Amino acid sequence: MMEADHEDGSYDRNKELKLFDETKAGVKGLVDAGLTKLPKIFVHDNHKVNDSSSSSSSSATNVSIPVIDLGSLHEEGNSRHEIVQKVKDAGEKWGFFQVVNHKIPQSILDEMLDGVRKFHEQDAEVKKEFYSRDITKRVFYNTNFNFYTTSEVNWRDTLYCLLAPGPLDPHQLPSICRDVIIEYLDHIKKLALTLLELLSEALGLEGNYLKDIDCGEGIFMVGNYYPPCPEPELTWGLSAHTDMGFVTILLQDQVGGLQVFHENQWFDITPFPGAFIINLGDMMQLITNDKFMSAKHRVVAQKVGPRVSVSCSLRQHVQDECLRMYGPIKELVTKENPPIYKEMKMPDLVKLSEKFNIYNFKNSHVLYLNKSKYLPLNFFRLTIIIIGFCSRLPIRKII
Ligand code: OGA
Ligand code: NI
Repeated sequence: MMEADHEDGSYDRNKELKLFDETKAGVKGLVDAGLTKLPKIFVHDNHKVNDSSSSSSSSATNVSIPVIDLGSLHEEGNSRHEIVQKVKDAGEKWGFFQVVNHKIPQSILDEMLDGVRKFHEQDAEVKKEFYSRDITKRVFYNTNFNFYTTSEVNWRDTLYCLLAPGPLDPHQLPSICRDVIIEYLDHIKKLALTLLELLSEALGLEGNYLKDIDCGEGIFMVGNYYPPCPEPELTWGLSAHTDMGFVTILLQDQVGGLQVFHENQWFDITPFPGAFIINLGDMMQLITNDKFMSAKHRVVAQKVGPRVSVSCSLRQHVQDECLRMYGPIKELVTKENPPIYKEMKMPDLVKLSEKFNIYNFKNSHVLYLNKSKYLPLNFFRLTIIIIGFCSRLPIRKII
């Protein structure tokens, strides 16, 4: 990496990015090479050392995201109603909850985490074949999807698999974790339908509403690998962001490091054996017209590791057949609560986030129907408006 440091002391960041990318060995490759200091691309300007809101932990405050027991879902009595009520509360206040007793065997969860770990720890030459930044591929791996567009490169490698909608040729999946992904997908599809039913009911809609508008059609799987980091105080495992889809079903191992932003503070999401973390994404916030929230979350970098997580985002991707437009659900808007967001296709949101590096949905002015109402007129927008106005006037008139 030293090749990016010039003799005169200047430093070529793009060159360092490119050199690292061309190794196709990821962050794992750096760790294997015995690195003890972080390359500059991973060192963040505004790191958490300066982040005053980063100190809270659930263990310190005794507050944690709601845990919802799905075990009694099909029993007689009031239990379904109670579960729906808890989902509603969690969706409105946190955008996050955990589910336990979901009926997916522990062995499948362990094997899935193990499969992703094995993918990242396999022979570098085999793994290289999957290294790509082409987001139209169904299966690929890289270090940070937004590597070249962000100033915050994170200490993480990721395997991406668009599992649904089909057709998925199983041979496209890495052989080292192919079988377990296929088995896991089968279980996740069922859990996804249960969650969409509960969320529909929590919104006061018919149980099959969200399924019928295809919220469960797409499943985008992400297998994250966070190697141990020699200088964790200088970087992030995953910077603060919101997820793009409708719902994310996240499985984490027991290492920890995930945090959620809630009421202006960051809270640890302590690993809970056998649980899935469920979080609502930007598209859910859009279709519910802000009734449900897409909460910011992040992963700290740590000396310990590797940490492995598998997230399955219920969302379509950039493929041409994903034509459905999504806007605020008619049944949820009223005169007093008019639509806030524009209609858009899921692929449009994915492409926008690539283009503008949208890390936080609520700042993405392109999504709002009436921007000026929801985003204050700041200096930047005022300048753009003035330039836009002036450029329409004939030059001679201005002079
Ligand atoms: C994600 C994500 C959290 C984790 O992939 O979007 O937030 O625990 N992952 O890895
Ligand atoms: Ni996320």
